[in-house]
Amino acid sequence: MRMYDLIMKKRNRMSLSREEIRFMIQHYTAGFIPDYQMSAMMMAIYFNGMNDEETLQLTMAMAESGDLLDLSAIDGIKVDKHSTGGVGDKTSLALTPMVAACGVPVAKMSGRGLGHTGGTIDKLESFPGFSVSMDTNQFMRQVNDIGIAIMGQTKDLAPADKKLYALRDVTATVDNMSLIASSIMSKKLASGADAIVLDVKTGSGAFMKEEKDAFALAEEMVRIGRGAGRDTRAVISDMDEPLGYAIGNALEVKEAIDTLNGKGPEDFLELCLTLGTSMVLAGKKAESEEEAREMLLEKIENGSALRKLAQFVKAQGGDESLVFESERLPRASMEKTVTAARDGFVSHIDCDEAGICSLILGGGRETKESAIDLSVGLLLSKKVGDMVKQGETLATLYGNDAAALSEAVERYKAACHITEGPVEKRSLIRGMIC
Ligand code: URA
Repeated sequence: MRMYDLIMKKRNRMSLSREEIRFMIQHYTAGFIPDYQMSAMMMAIYFNGMNDEETLQLTMAMAESGDLLDLSAIDGIKVDKHSTGGVGDKTSLALTPMVAACGVPVAKMSGRGLGHTGGTIDKLESFPGFSVSMDTNQFMRQVNDIGIAIMGQTKDLAPADKKLYALRDVTATVDNMSLIASSIMSKKLASGADAIVLDVKTGSGAFMKEEKDAFALAEEMVRIGRGAGRDTRAVISDMDEPLGYAIGNALEVKEAIDTLNGKGPEDFLELCLTLGTSMVLAGKKAESEEEAREMLLEKIENGSALRKLAQFVKAQGGDESLVFESERLPRASMEKTVTAARDGFVSHIDCDEAGICSLILGGGRETKESAIDLSVGLLLSKKVGDMVKQGETLATLYGNDAAALSEAVERYKAACHITEGPVEKRSLIRGMIC
């Protein structure tokens, strides 16, 4: 088999066989196919697409390019959750203890993430001492002991995807549905869960700006997951404004704790309950949506979800006392407010811009090497649809650098739009595939 022939086939709009796709992925991962040939293939796929079978085979080949985690030593149905990401997305921090408290084992691999804030692991490092370095035996033991563990992604998890994603990033071939779906799902399949619940975001702060694209991506990923024999479900949710009120690592941890204390933002709680319902059903701990939702709410009301978070933080070396005294989480030394220039209603918050404010304050990473400041970020006071009076606070920004704080304030001012007349709130949950 020659890569040249495969490129020509795809260029001529023909489909690739399972064997051809496996040859291409195995030889590329091993370094026998050069980047320039793979770039040509990615561009051919970008223009001519892949059918469902090719997309599934590409996903499987990438998943099998490295370690396939065998979680069979963990009792019960293991359910993983994945979000396509967005601004203020701290969902895993509250959702995983809620679900674990319902008896669904949570064995999750998470990342650190480039972008506006850190990934789940960075956020959890707001608890001094918290660590995700453990081997898979320790990981499985902890899930069997307390029902929840989060470890960092091993470097051998879908290495083909790592190499291909870096190539796509510099050859303008990221935004193709089959390539995105196979990239995400290869890592999820390799992580070994029995069931996968996907949170696909749509709106100005999401990867998929258009709702129809988010639905198409969700459908494609569900098709792949089911094709690979995993119970796969998806929720399509709004990311046209930040999720909840907090953006920034420790601020988001505090908001997740508030939610487990029954004092969280309505939209964030709703998302946790919707995703949690799918996870509890996939984990076969409830028979109906109503029962699953009730169970999740009960775990908040009786404090067991909060205690599960504390138990999890402690098991991974973190200071769990902060779960009960969240005011001691890292907090920046300076703060500034952004106030409304006139009376009216918040009509739009440019989500990406709000995220960039967090990045400017030091809350995110621009490169893999950048250090993250866990203490900085934004706390919104008003969201889309809210009425405001001139001079009222729209958001408070927290920083440790005066110049960065002033720059972020100016950007947030421009990102938060006010109109005269009332504005309808968009619904958070746009759809589900269950
Ligand atoms: N996230 C991924 O992991 N892969 C993509 O291709 C896009 C987003």
